[in-house]
Amino acid sequence: MTTLFKNIKELIQVRTEPISYVSGKAMSELPTIKNAFLMVNNGLISDFGSMNDCPKTGFSEVIDATGRMILPSWCDSHTHIVYAGNREGEFVDRIKGLSYEAIAANGGGILNSAKKLQETSEEVLYQQSKERLEDVIQLGTGALEIKSGYGLTVAAELKMLRVIKRLKENYPIAVKTTFLGAHALPLEYKENKEGYLKLLIDEALPKIAEENLAEYIDIFCETGYFSVEDTELMLEAGKKYGLIPKIHVNQFTAIGGVQAGVKHHALSVDHLEVMRDEDIEALKNTKTMPVALPSCSYFLSIPYAPARKMINAGLPLALATDYNPGSTPSGNMNFVISTACIKMKMTPEEAINAATINGAYAMGLDDKVGSITKGKQANLILTKQINSYGFIPYSFGTNQIEKVYLKGKEICI
Ligand code: NIG
Ligand code: FE
Repeated sequence: MTTLFKNIKELIQVRTEPISYVSGKAMSELPTIKNAFLMVNNGLISDFGSMNDCPKTGFSEVIDATGRMILPSWCDSHTHIVYAGNREGEFVDRIKGLSYEAIAANGGGILNSAKKLQETSEEVLYQQSKERLEDVIQLGTGALEIKSGYGLTVAAELKMLRVIKRLKENYPIAVKTTFLGAHALPLEYKENKEGYLKLLIDEALPKIAEENLAEYIDIFCETGYFSVEDTELMLEAGKKYGLIPKIHVNQFTAIGGVQAGVKHHALSVDHLEVMRDEDIEALKNTKTMPVALPSCSYFLSIPYAPARKMINAGLPLALATDYNPGSTPSGNMNFVISTACIKMKMTPEEAINAATINGAYAMGLDDKVGSITKGKQANLILTKQINSYGFIPYSFGTNQIEKVYLKGKEICI
């Protein structure tokens, strides 16, 4: 099956030579082809170029994209979309003046979600999570990472990971899985953090490895949650089972988590709302991708990651949603891109690079998605009739997507 998209007003994020990611000044360049064609064969991008060179034969289906643009689908490298119920009650508590930290300290927050998840069957958890996955696919996400971390018992963590596995098997979207057992300390272990980490290391990790349930390991390295020492312990333990680190750091305080991530060759360090100069310095000339989560800053009214400072220092940056019930109940990458432009002063080119090729790198999928490159999956966004790609972040809150394709197939859910 070969599909030809013809008369594309502008084909965006065209990378003829494969690249892993873009950093610093290069983030402001977004290569495109105006008046383009794109050919898809068996779910993969097989050819593209100017309409002047458009093949006349050799395809079984033609889609006329006149007036519309095509981009690679968004790559959301940080989500927690598998969760039970919601935390709307805490949302109202925060409106009335309680802080996110105070709610967590009173047994709400992550522990609230963990209780709900422990009481929810695997089947119901799957049904709730699949609705969120279908929603984000319609919003243009074509690859995503999903974390555990709302189970906080061995059984409930495994339940989450099995749900992620089922989503991965049942949907054509590329999914990567992260074990985040060390997301918060369960009440039973309030005075015994070592005991909880030992449980994760001695009981959860071997089972995860045995069933092949995760590729990455994460920990919430934060004051009041897990220390740098705990972080190093978990990352070392994960490494023994081949799990690569992708960690939550510098959300509320800077305690050296970035440096621990770099030391352990983390694929990404995520959040970064609070960045000291030495944290930016530590990321230079490393293979660790900084990931900003602007929807989380928006929802919690906390600082935004200092994107300009990081990019001006020559670093790469990826953007992701952090879709979760507590700090970011939204999986909309279009909103993330708008917010990055509006609040973090990223240009549309930088934001689109951060949400495609750099996001793909941050979840180890840069050889499969994130750009218009021959051989990559044809995970595509076909826009409505718009005059420039900058209109996508500009028209915040408005859907500019007409159709989405995964592995070349139109997805209508
Ligand atoms: O990435 N910061 C840690 N974990 C999640 C939110 C946890 C929650 O409130 O449920 C995050 O923001
Ligand atoms: Fe998160």
